[in-house]
Parts: sequence; structure tokens; C-alpha cells
Amino acid sequence: MSSLKDLANSQADMVVNEMGGGSLLSDSQTALLYVVAGVLFILALRGLSSPDSSRRGNMFGMIGMGIAVVTTLLQLDASSGLTWGLIIAGLAIGGAIGAVIARRIAMTDMPQLVAAFHSLVGLAAVLVAWAAFFVPEAFHIGTFGNIKTLSMVEMSIGVAIGAITFSGSIIAFAKLQGIMSGAPIILPARHFINGALALAIVVGIVMLCTDASNQTVTVFLIVTLLSFIIGFLIIVPIGGADMPVVVSMLNSYSGWAAAGIGFTLHNMALIITGSLVGSSGAILSYIMCKGMNRSFISVILGGFGGDTSAGSGEVETRPVKQGSAEDAAFIMKNARHVIIVPGYGMAVAQAQHALKEMADKLKEEGVKVSYAIHPVAGRMPGHMNVLLAEASVPYDEVFELEDINSSFSTADVAFVIGANDVTNPAAKTDPQSPIFGMPVLDVEKAATVLFVKRSMGAGYAGVENELFFRDNTMMLFSDAKKMVENIIKSL
Ligand code: TAP
Repeated sequence: MSSLKDLANSQADMVVNEMGGGSLLSDSQTALLYVVAGVLFILALRGLSSPDSSRRGNMFGMIGMGIAVVTTLLQLDASSGLTWGLIIAGLAIGGAIGAVIARRIAMTDMPQLVAAFHSLVGLAAVLVAWAAFFVPEAFHIGTFGNIKTLSMVEMSIGVAIGAITFSGSIIAFAKLQGIMSGAPIILPARHFINGALALAIVVGIVMLCTDASNQTVTVFLIVTLLSFIIGFLIIVPIGGADMPVVVSMLNSYSGWAAAGIGFTLHNMALIITGSLVGSSGAILSYIMCKGMNRSFISVILGGFGGDTSAGSGEVETRPVKQGSAEDAAFIMKNARHVIIVPGYGMAVAQAQHALKEMADKLKEEGVKVSYAIHPVAGRMPGHMNVLLAEASVPYDEVFELEDINSSFSTADVAFVIGANDVTNPAAKTDPQSPIFGMPVLDVEKAATVLFVKRSMGAGYAGVENELFFRDNTMMLFSDAKKMVENIIKSL
């Protein structure tokens, strides 16, 4: 216990001592500003936990990050060779690229963008660790080949997590972008290979940290390369349906990698921010696993989702009931309660504004309108909430799955717009289905189910939806936005 305390004290002393030389701020001013930034980050996370406080949360986050960046820049030590010119050039180039990407990216492509950005955090951790390995003097952590034990522990764990985050995120990006198949790629004996690689990485880290004579480029390089490989091997077998959890898990890894860089650079703000990102990403992964009724371990072990279909693979020829915009308008106008279930197709069609207009018209007719949001509807956490908020849908009409699922049995209409997997009853009834166990919205319990989609095509998990053939289902084949606009005309 006391040795742990000594360790913590020596680390804290080191962090405080190393911040300052050549700085425009005193050590205590720097520490205070970093604490203010840390508090703002915590307030940001708190704000982001609910749609009505999320703007405020974002604002806190931006101010916190602004304070952290400016405080760090004021640490500039002229003797390090780093100049304001270099920093401003870096900020301008990185900022310009980020701004262009952020403006151009479609909301539906956000998960792959997040995965791509995580890969950069991982790469940054690797590069910083290598820089510190070659020039430890610049970081005041010893000399080349004789780095302080504690710093070596931080650097080697940081380089390993950073490399895993980098290669794992690249694979997640390639799968989400469609560059690689979303299907799980199962290598023979993969658990054995991964176990052996993990063991080799641990042995390498122990070697680096226990004996300075092992602090060679070769050992550090082996740890780095094996970590790149294991990151690749961990993500490759994970199938499409588990990708949301993977992105959130990589988010968590990128946070820990950033915290690792924070220790190497003795930057308290990075340690705080990295830990917040690391722990919130881990909690989000846990919540999503719970939402899909999957265990975190089974996600990591992979092999789930992708192209496997619950159907026989034969082309479906059963008849379905088709309707028009006029039919849908008539049914909904005469309903007491309509529950709207948005999904990925609504995002693709950008139908949220038209949908809000349709809901307003129905409300004018005295119809009660609610929105049911599945935790993994769309392609990223909170996807539907963001789009509905953008269209100014009142928050009190929007309900999470567990709060609205019991209302379908008394609703007259479930208006499913561009959603598919999140309504599929196979998740409840077919143990062979790849989505079995995922909680779904019980739309079939409504008196009438209207499905707006363009074809009989499957959703993300590639599974056929039995609901399309039910007696109380009416298919409205069209682009989601066009269909809603036509319904508005009929209303
Ligand atoms: P999906 O099951 O993917 O179904 C979307 C449906 O929208 C498709 O069947 C498609 O049918 C239809 N569609 C596409 N474009 C359309 C358009 N322009 N107009 C009308 N319909 C259109 O979506 P979901 O129900 O939202 O489920 C989400 C799925 O994505 C889950 O399997 C989930 O695990 C996975 N996922 C979720 C996330 C997160 S975190 N939310 C991230 C990655 C993956 P047509 O082609 O016939 O039109």
C-alpha cells in the first residue's frame, strides 16, 4: 500500500516538476487550468447524456479543450527546438483537414469517420512513444537505453494500446466503408494465435521494463509490430452486426492510448481526457452489448453477424400487402395513437424534416404521435436522436425502447420508416438468427404496421424480416422522404 502511495507521489511530483521549464505559466497556474479543463470535460459528458442538455455539454467540451490546448501551448520550451511557426503550421494543416472532412461527411458515414479518427489517436500514441524511446532526454525520463522503469512501463503499454487501436480502427473503417466485407473472417486457430501474440507482447513489455539492457530498438519494435498484428486479428473476425460495439470499444482504447501519451509527455490534461474517453467508451460498449443482449467477451471473440442469413437463401416469393401514400394517410388520420419507428433508411433519405411535418399534421387532426428509438437504430449511437433533434422534434415525444415497447399493443399504427433489423421478431423467436437475443421494438403488436422502404431488401444484419408478410402489415415501397412528402399531400 505504502509503495503504491510512493509511486503515486513520485509520479505526481514528476508531472508537476516537469511542467514549467521555459513556460509562460507557473506550475500551479498550469495545474489549475488543467483542472478547470478536466471539470469542463466532465460537465460536457454530463450534458451529452440527454438531448436537451447536449448543446450545453458540447459547449463545455469545446471551452475545456480550448483551455487545455492554449495552456499546453503556453508550455512551449524554446530549448526544445519547437517553434510557434511549426505549431501554427501543424494546427492550420490539421484544423483545415478536420474542418473540410467535418463539413463534407454525411451523417450516415459518421461511424467510419469516428473509426478513422481513432486510428490517428492510436498512431499518435505510437509515434510519441517512439519519439520518447529515441530521445528520452527531451521528456526528462532518462537516456537512450536507460529509460526510467516507470516511464518504460507507461511507454510500452502506451505503444501496445496505440498500435492495437491503430490497426483495429483501420479494419473497422474498411469494414464500415465497404472496402472490406462486413462478414466475419474466421482464421483457423485464431484464439490460439491471439493468445500466443498477447503473451509475446506481455513478455516483451516485461523485458523492456525489468532490465535496461533489453531496452533495444529490436525489442521495442517487436512489441509494436505484434500489437499492430493483434489489433488487426482481433477486429477481422468481428461481423457487421457487432461493429457499433467495436467502434465504441476502439473509442475506449484510443482514450487509454491518449492517457498513455499523457504520462509520457507528463501532461495532466491528456491523462484526464484520455481516462474520461477510455472509461466512457468502455461504459458505452457495455450499454450497447446490453442493448443487443450480447456479452462483451463474445463480441471480442468475434464471428458474429455479417452475411449469414436466417432465410434459406432462396428468393422469397410470398405475397405482401402493398399500399400507397393515400392509404397510409387515411389510416393514420383515423388513428388515435401513431408510433413512428425511424431507422437507417430515414437517415439515408434525410426524411426527418418531412417526418416532423407529417407528425405536426397528424397532431392537428388530434392524433397522438410518439417516436420509438432503438439503441442501435441507424449506424451510430444516438443516430436517430440527432436527426430528430435536427428537425426540432419535441424531446417529450421521443422514447427509448424500454419506455415505449409496451405501448405498441395499444397503438393503432406503427409507422416504420427505413428501419428493419430493430423490428425483426426473429431476434425473439429464431435461435439460429444472427440477431437472436437483440431486444427489438414490438411493432407487430400495433393494430397496423406500415413499413416505408424501397424494396424487400434486408437490413444491416442481412436477415429477412418475417413482419413484411404479416396480415396487419402494409408495405409502402418508396424512398422514405418521397413517401412522407406524398403522405403530407394526402393529409
Ligand atoms: P437496417 O436494419 O439496416 O434497415 C434499414 C432499411 O432501410 C433497409 O432494409 C433498407 O431497405 C431501408 N432503406 C435504405 N435506404 C432507404 C431509403 N432511401 N428510403 C427508404 N428506406 C430505405 O436499419 P435499422 O433497423 O435502423 O437497424 C440498424 C442496424 O444497423 C442493426 O442491425 C444494427 O446492429 C446495425 N448497426 C447499428 C449501429 C448503431 S450504433 N446504431 C452501427 C452499425 C451497425 P430497402 O433497401 O428495401 O430500402
